[in-house]
Amino acid sequence: MFSSLRKIQNPILKSVISAVTSFAIVTIVGSVVIDLAKSERNEKSVYKLGVYASLIGTAAGAVFGLIIPTDKTKTAKKTDQKQDTVTDKKVWQDWRNFVVTRKVKESEEITSFYLEPEDKEEIPNFKPGQFLTIKLDIPSQQRPVIRTYSLSDRNEPNQYYRLSIKRELAPKGLDVPPGIASNFMHDRIEEGSIIPAKPPNGKFYIDVNKSLPAVLISNGVGITPMIAMAKASSLLNPSKNVWFVHGARNGQYHAFRDEVLAIAQQNSQLKVHYRYSRPQPEDEGHYQSNGYVDATLIKDSILPEIKNIYGSTDAEYFLCGSPAFLTSLREGLAELGVLEERVFFESFSKGSSKVSEKKKTETKDTSEGKEVVFAQSGKTATWQSNDGTILEFAEDNGINPPNSCRAGICLTCMCRIEEGEIEYEEPPTGTPDEGTVLICIAKPKTEKVVLDI
Ligand SMILES: Cc1cc2nc3c(=O)[nH]c(=O)nc-3n(C[C@H](O)[C@H](O)[C@H](O)COP(=O)(O)OP(=O)(O)OC[C@H]3O[C@@H](n4cnc5c(N)ncnc54)[C@H](O)[C@@H]3O)c2cc1C
Ligand code: FES
Repeated sequence: MFSSLRKIQNPILKSVISAVTSFAIVTIVGSVVIDLAKSERNEKSVYKLGVYASLIGTAAGAVFGLIIPTDKTKTAKKTDQKQDTVTDKKVWQDWRNFVVTRKVKESEEITSFYLEPEDKEEIPNFKPGQFLTIKLDIPSQQRPVIRTYSLSDRNEPNQYYRLSIKRELAPKGLDVPPGIASNFMHDRIEEGSIIPAKPPNGKFYIDVNKSLPAVLISNGVGITPMIAMAKASSLLNPSKNVWFVHGARNGQYHAFRDEVLAIAQQNSQLKVHYRYSRPQPEDEGHYQSNGYVDATLIKDSILPEIKNIYGSTDAEYFLCGSPAFLTSLREGLAELGVLEERVFFESFSKGSSKVSEKKKTETKDTSEGKEVVFAQSGKTATWQSNDGTILEFAEDNGINPPNSCRAGICLTCMCRIEEGEIEYEEPPTGTPDEGTVLICIAKPKTEKVVLDI
């Protein structure tokens, strides 16, 4: 009976059940005793004694129920269940408001923004390398501007998200406006500003538990996912060998120089190589080599170190940086014999898409086209197989749907498909909502496609 009582978690319920049980036991026992002990002379006082005994027994039972300890194994199990629920609850759907709690200048052109949830509830951790999608209401823009930014910090447990954003200037020689979102973040977003964000996402991440060494190679703002990867590796699997190779113009433009060195000071398995393309005299002693980060640097400086430790040069390579940097590294690594399946990369912008280049050189497709209806814009046009993605086709027809990554990652171009079917050039990284498509990587599949653009 005691063990059953100990399994009850609610102390009041435990006390009531204990009191009722005591009352029943004392009353039954009391009745038997009264029956045996009563006589003509003392009948009244014996009954009185019985009532008192029942009341005292009930009170004692209630107190006993309150003080008896609860079964600990059961409590622990319950707490675990509760924690599981909390973990599930941490992931949110759609948009959640975050407060900018810190704004920190990291370099000449990169500034970090620390985001904490406005609801002060827990936030989920993320796979090191993933990004956050944010939505900005910018007064000069007709609709909210959606952009994706890699999570540039990693802690256990996670209390904030950090985004580190480069101010995008207008490209030299082009009479176009500077970057909309990045300049707004730098100039208008301050501590206390509210920014809606979607949950962390992305397929570019490191599995720190893999035994293979990892080489993290970045240039410019491509350093952001690499910091999360280096930190996660040092926190969760400190014995993993990681090389952190980063290229910057010089110290002025080099964000997180000391932060990465601080991780390496804590973890000797993290080796750092900084390469400056235009070092200044004051940078002396802060970088390891001069020039651009390329496959030759990997061949001459990193592969011998990996071979020295492992006896082989087998490693995983994570690349993030400008489109030219990515092309050069991917081609260079392939020439060094690195298997394609060992190379993971992320581009922050698509650069010149292969489809666009093809469009310029190929002659016009004469095969019968497919009808694309842009319902909101009231335009219908015939798509040919060399017209590129639906996004490019829309732009060629004077329609400018919102877009950001142009690579099926960020969901900015997601739009409702009202009729017909599309096909993707490659499976999207982001998961579009039911009944919607990512037009930046989609082409019409059926004879007619109607889109809510
Ligand atoms: C997965 C992922 C992760 C990312 N992580 C980061 C990160 O950690 N940090 C970071 O800083 N960025 C990151 N980015 C890039 C980021 O999402 C934005 O693309 C970037 O901030 C530029 O956005 P913007 O609105 O400032 O510029 P936009 O307004 O999109 O303009 C981009 C550039 O185009 C130029 N431009 C404008 N109009 C024209 C025109 N007509 N013709 C030619 N050029 C034009 C602008 O001057 C600007 O230089 C990431 C992107 C992806 C996809
Ligand atoms: S623009 Fe990013 S998914 Fe299409």
